[in-house]
Amino acid sequence: MARCRSAAVKLGGSLITVKDRPYTIRWEALREASRILAWYASKGGGLVVVHGGGSFGHAEAERLQALHGGSLPGSAAPRIQAAMLRLAVEVASALVDAGVGATLHTTHTLCGCGGCEYAPISRDYSSGLVPVLYGDALACGGSTLIVSGDRLVVEAAESLGVECVVYVIDKPGILDSNGKPLAVVRAGEEPPLLGGGAAPDVTGGLRAKLEWAYRAALRGFEVYITGLDGLLKVLSGGTAPTRIEA
Ligand code: IPE
Repeated sequence: MARCRSAAVKLGGSLITVKDRPYTIRWEALREASRILAWYASKGGGLVVVHGGGSFGHAEAERLQALHGGSLPGSAAPRIQAAMLRLAVEVASALVDAGVGATLHTTHTLCGCGGCEYAPISRDYSSGLVPVLYGDALACGGSTLIVSGDRLVVEAAESLGVECVVYVIDKPGILDSNGKPLAVVRAGEEPPLLGGGAAPDVTGGLRAKLEWAYRAALRGFEVYITGLDGLLKVLSGGTAPTRIEA
């Protein structure tokens, strides 16, 4: 396990939910991800897990946005929080069932309008547990702020000082124009970003993910955007498409 002795892993909403079917979990993918993470933790890998909103948070946010003429008032936050908490409990339970010492933190109580507080996560991480947090919503000055998991995973990686940041998606990496995963993308490059679906995404989809991945690479982390096979390879000490380089 030379390459990534500790990792911050983002399980994308596209991986763990059926993005265009409201409130639907992809159980196979969630259990497979949980098995891989349990194996890694059992080998001594330090781990923090962040998950996305998929057809829970994104679908609920889109529905409420449509209801409020395109904006999200602060009163929309509780329903989005409830949707995300439902998913978070399932993710944390799947991890625990697989043998991960997963400890769930509700993002909207860790985060304020100006930023998030990572001390409770550090405390659990230092105790050998695996903190779990997720993309979420909170009321800020009359409107609802969506906190993306893509941002949280970078911030959590920084506060815990882990070595690798891995974004796990439902594709084997960032695809080229022939649909093949690119081995490497350098920070600032503009890959074709094929495959952006019609499913609701209030945090900017793959493009926003890439921006956060670039930031992580520039801050010195080993960064990947990959599928489940890639997650296993990276956590086993190898490499996988797509590696994001500074
Ligand atoms: C979204 O989090 C959170 C909400 C919509 C409440 P992410 O932006 O990290 O979710 P995915 O991975 O794109 O689904």
